Amino acid sequence: MRLRSRHLVAIASLEPDEVELILDTAESFAEVGTREIKKVPTLRGKTVVNFFVEPSTRTRSSFELAEKRLSADAVNFSANSSSFVKGETLLDTARNLEAMVPDFIVIRHSEAGAPHFLARHSSCSIINAGDGAHEHPTQALLDAFTIRRRRPLRGLRVTIVGDILHSRVARSNILLLSKMGAQVTVCGPPSLMPPRIEALGCSATHDVDRSIEGADVVMALRLQLERMTRGYLPSLREYAKLYGLDSRRMQRAAPDAIVMHPGPMNRGVEITGDVADGERSVILEQVTNGVAVRMAVLYLLAGEVEREAAA
Ligand code: CP
Repeated sequence: MRLRSRHLVAIASLEPDEVELILDTAESFAEVGTREIKKVPTLRGKTVVNFFVEPSTRTRSSFELAEKRLSADAVNFSANSSSFVKGETLLDTARNLEAMVPDFIVIRHSEAGAPHFLARHSSCSIINAGDGAHEHPTQALLDAFTIRRRRPLRGLRVTIVGDILHSRVARSNILLLSKMGAQVTVCGPPSLMPPRIEALGCSATHDVDRSIEGADVVMALRLQLERMTRGYLPSLREYAKLYGLDSRRMQRAAPDAIVMHPGPMNRGVEITGDVADGERSVILEQVTNGVAVRMAVLYLLAGEVEREAAA
């Protein structure tokens, strides 16, 4: 078994057997994170450029830890500390980074499609760490890994509540979970629900209580106020009342349901503190698992590059 591309730019382009391969490989790497010496020589001599044009806490540090645990050399660029602020184009930035011959570029960008653009113009592997409101493939993979460690994905009822319109996490999760046989429902206010979202493989509703009824997994999403170009909501208080995940609402879910959130959380808006920190919450497990999943992605993509070079 192998991946079919040396890039990971979207869940949309992965087949179910490739998702299984990444999740199975991540199981082996999860064990590395429990050792006293959390390092293996797998990517010794490989170089990774982490190019983050948008802010990130979890994804950036998780990739960096994954790279270090695999013994790769990592270089970090952010928008503020690079020549991006001086007007350099994405293509020129990529060409200059490429000239230093990295093996991977991990990119987070505010524009949807930026990683795909780089993949067309780069000889190294491109990994999408989140592009605008489009996709966040490694987040969906780590979410699936976290769920799969507790129960099979096939037949699972997953409800995603919140700002679906601006959420790359929602898109990647809908695509991945529906590919793997889960039933996904998305729920949010009409102003934050993209038209024809069902075409991605989910059902959609504005009725939050009904959407949570019997769910095995409830995922809350942040309101992405920074992407809101007009008044989508009357007030945060009203949103919290109508769509916020609280312990009363969670009673409608399956008795052993888990609560997820990709972070960063707005406590008291999309989720209450007691639900975020409660016994059903796997929010910090998601973060822990992200390192193993990103190790698996880097390892498998490196294998594809070697196969291409040998061909
Ligand atoms: N889940 C996620 O993408 O978080 P960051 O924005 O902190 O990377």
